[in-house]
Amino acid sequence: MLDPKDFTAQIAKDCEELYEYHENSVKEFMDSNPNNEQFVQYFTNRMINERINCTEISRRVANLDINTPAEDMFLLSKQAWDEAKHFRMVKEIVEFYKGSEVDVEAAMKASREREKQGGDIRPATLLEKFEASEDPLSIAVYQYIAEGMAARNWAMQAKTSSEDFVRSRYEEIAKDEKFHSNIGKRSLEQLIEDPDTQVRARKIADEVINLLWNIGCIAQHVPTHAMQDLQA
Ligand SMILES: [Fe+2]
Ligand SMILES: [Fe+2]
Repeated sequence: MLDPKDFTAQIAKDCEELYEYHENSVKEFMDSNPNNEQFVQYFTNRMINERINCTEISRRVANLDINTPAEDMFLLSKQAWDEAKHFRMVKEIVEFYKGSEVDVEAAMKASREREKQGGDIRPATLLEKFEASEDPLSIAVYQYIAEGMAARNWAMQAKTSSEDFVRSRYEEIAKDEKFHSNIGKRSLEQLIEDPDTQVRARKIADEVINLLWNIGCIAQHVPTHAMQDLQA
C-alpha cells in the first residue's frame, strides 16, 4: 500500500496526459481567432457549467451529515461560494462579448435541450455517478481529478486570452479550481488509510479519467470542429 501522499501524487501523474489534451483544446480554440458570436457561445457554456457547479455543491452542503467536521463544512461552503462567483464572472465575460445582457434562463433551456439530444455540455453520467454520489471516496476522487483539470484549463484560458477583462477573471477562477482540487486531495488522503480503500480509489480514478476522455465531457471545453473530428 502506498503512502496516501504518494498515492495522490501518482494519480496526478496519471492525469497529466488528459490535462494536456484539454489544455491544448482550449489553446486551439483561442488560436483559431473566434469571432464575437463564437466567443458568446463558448463562454455561455462555461457560464452554465459554473451555475450548475454552484447548485450541485450547494446541494451537497445542504445534505451534509450532522457529524461532518466543521472544517469540512467550511471548505465545501467556500467552494459553493466560489462557484457562484465564477458564474457571475463568466456571465460578465459573455456580456462583454455580446454587448448586452444575457438571458440565463434561455441559455439554461438551450443547454438542457442539447443535453437531451446527446450534445451535453456536462454529461449526466458524470453528475449521477460522481457528483451526486453518496460515496465520499467517489466524490473525493472525482473532485481531485475534475477540479484539477478545470484549474489547468482555466489557467490556459487566462494565458491565451488577449483581453485583460477575460484574463484577470480566468486567472482568479483557475486559482479557485486548484483550491477545489486540493479539497478533494485532502479528503482522499484522509480516506485511503487501508489497502482495500486504496484499491477501490484506484479503480474509481481510472473510471473518472476514462470518462473525462470520453467525448461528452470533452464537449465541455473544445470547439465544435474538434468535437466533430473526434466523433468521426
Ligand atoms: Fe468553477
Ligand atoms: Fe470548482
